[in-house]
Amino acid sequence: MKKIIHLTSQNCSLIMKVDKSPEILHWGAKINQIDPDIMLSTERPISQARLDVDVPLSLCPELGSGHFNAPGIEGHRDRYDWAPVFEVCSQEVLEQSVAFTLQDKVAKLQLEIEIKLDYESDVIQKRVKVTNIGAGDYYLTKLSSTLPVPNQANELMSFYGRWSREFQIHRQAFTHGGFMQENRRGRTSHENFPGMFVGTNHFNEQTGQVWGFHLGWSGNHQFRADVRSDGRRFVQAGELLLSGEVVLAETESYTTPWLYATYSAKGLNGISEGFHCFVRNNIIKFPVDKPRPVHLNTWEGIYFEHDPEYIMKMATEAEKMGVERFIIDDGWFVGRNGERTALGDWYLDEKKYPNGLEPVIKHVNDLGMEFGLWVEPEMISRESMLYREHPDWVLELKGYHQPSGRWQYLLDLQNPDCFNYLFNRLNTLLTVYNISYLKWDMNRELVQPGHEGKPAVNGQVNALYKLLDKLLTAHNEVEIESCASGGGRIDFEILKRTHRFWASDCNDALERQAIQRGMSYFFPPEVMGAHIGPDESHTTRRCHHINMRGMTALGGHMGVELDPVKVPKEEKQAFAKYIAIHKQYRQLLHTGRSFRLDMFDKGQNVYGVQNDNEMLITVCQLVMPDYALPSPLRISCIDSNAKYQVQLVEMPEASFQLMKQRPQWLDKTLTLSGDNLKEIGLTLPILDPESALMLYIKKIK
Ligand code: GLA
Repeated sequence: MKKIIHLTSQNCSLIMKVDKSPEILHWGAKINQIDPDIMLSTERPISQARLDVDVPLSLCPELGSGHFNAPGIEGHRDRYDWAPVFEVCSQEVLEQSVAFTLQDKVAKLQLEIEIKLDYESDVIQKRVKVTNIGAGDYYLTKLSSTLPVPNQANELMSFYGRWSREFQIHRQAFTHGGFMQENRRGRTSHENFPGMFVGTNHFNEQTGQVWGFHLGWSGNHQFRADVRSDGRRFVQAGELLLSGEVVLAETESYTTPWLYATYSAKGLNGISEGFHCFVRNNIIKFPVDKPRPVHLNTWEGIYFEHDPEYIMKMATEAEKMGVERFIIDDGWFVGRNGERTALGDWYLDEKKYPNGLEPVIKHVNDLGMEFGLWVEPEMISRESMLYREHPDWVLELKGYHQPSGRWQYLLDLQNPDCFNYLFNRLNTLLTVYNISYLKWDMNRELVQPGHEGKPAVNGQVNALYKLLDKLLTAHNEVEIESCASGGGRIDFEILKRTHRFWASDCNDALERQAIQRGMSYFFPPEVMGAHIGPDESHTTRRCHHINMRGMTALGGHMGVELDPVKVPKEEKQAFAKYIAIHKQYRQLLHTGRSFRLDMFDKGQNVYGVQNDNEMLITVCQLVMPDYALPSPLRISCIDSNAKYQVQLVEMPEASFQLMKQRPQWLDKTLTLSGDNLKEIGLTLPILDPESALMLYIKKIK
């Protein structure tokens, strides 16, 4: 067995030492060559008044070996075998991965730890599997993936949120004690996004060493980061198991979700570059050569009021603005006249659509657009045909009154009859109608998720994955959007079987700037559904000029979410303009490297995307500028030795509130060298609060 294992990627090294258990010696900057003396140079002293042995912070720390912080595994065999200690019995080392098998011969448990390091993106994937190799059931209460981080990681950034306010950033010191996040909502959740970062003091977008983490799982999770009293620190993440949720009979196993992690020496921009590269190469299954079509979604336009003639008018107007895919949202199926009824009855409402859905789809297709439909398959309304026929299909604990959420309940996807019913209904819809896109919604949390009386979040989530996989096998040309009251189910594992996310129900462009910024650390723009909503936002009642709405939406996977028949002509022309800008730069936006810039004025959100030759930068003034004159835009990620042309793509019509004379360069094409743009910067015009401009920068030599 190798004592030292060294995996490398483009910019990183992961060095592990294998003794009785494997531990990470270094995860960070790339090391060219390991010195023969590394075993000696990394040997730890034993401190006074502690255990007399050195306790490694292993890949699965154990209470039984003297790790007094959160163990990587917890469980028992009817009150025995509760403090396992594992020893490595074999290892398989390949160029980019390592797999260890460990056993505890007393507790009769086997662990398999898999770690992969992706060369191109620097992303590590880690998961752990436990197998009961003894007689009698093993009650597993916790199995997590643990990764140590070096002591200089002493600041922590995590995300909080709620409906319509996803991906809000929280910073805190990471010097003593710990950080804990527990999600029991049964879906990825708006509240506890399963991701976080630790880094050196004041790490920001452009500078600092940062270690980033994301757990790819759409159910309950636990994230923690601890600083031990000896200064060593670690991040740990795994599924949060409900009491009795995983009981392993002899030979049975449980495997954790994948923990994704990456390291950057160039701040958060390096982290998002790594995650985006990994997601694009390994997770997204979107056809590479197809541009992502611009959407119009009917929800905020008509809600539950469906009149096919009117919907066709909406489609006609949408096409004129440049829309490429038209999606009918909630309200199309039998009896669905409001949010209290009909979920589960996935049959067309023939009262609303007396001639069927075909004429609408044909109209949409004849206009050259694709057609999409909203569904919420995991749900059931009490007022539905399905509930009348199968009240026993509800995911619940018998004998209790379960609170409804949005007046609805979950279906038990582990019930084979229920699973087959859903598959058949969806399969029929996709077979009968020319549907290229499903908006797959999930609008409530899991309370008392009982399958045959037993806790069933894990089983429910895995059954959902199975349903999606089965549907996509039958209809591999169909794209699916993951929506859960907006951004309630956004994670890498659901993205393996969906194609984009509805980032938030909040279409207020100001709020969206923050939501999309938070989301951009993990997900590339092409999977971030971003729509222009009505001028008055339906969630906040705040009003925004089309400049702010258009600029905010065009940086993601763009769409429009309103009634185009009702909006005035000038607004429609403006939508068409922003859609055209999006299409012009779509290739760059959806394949380039994203970045964010740290600005002197904290009220500005500045972000962009670049490839080797081009760059788009958006400057959004969120609130009143701090000073009368804006500070120059210094572009840190530009090539110092190259020459560039700089052009304004879009900015709000001149406002005389804050600026009476525009800088002349706004009407010209500038030629500037990279070092000028990096060090001297570009003097910006004064933007009103809640407005944005966009620049296009092209390398000329
Ligand atoms: C959820 C979604 C919305 C919309 C409605 C329809 O709230 O997030 O976008 O589809 O459901 O009921």
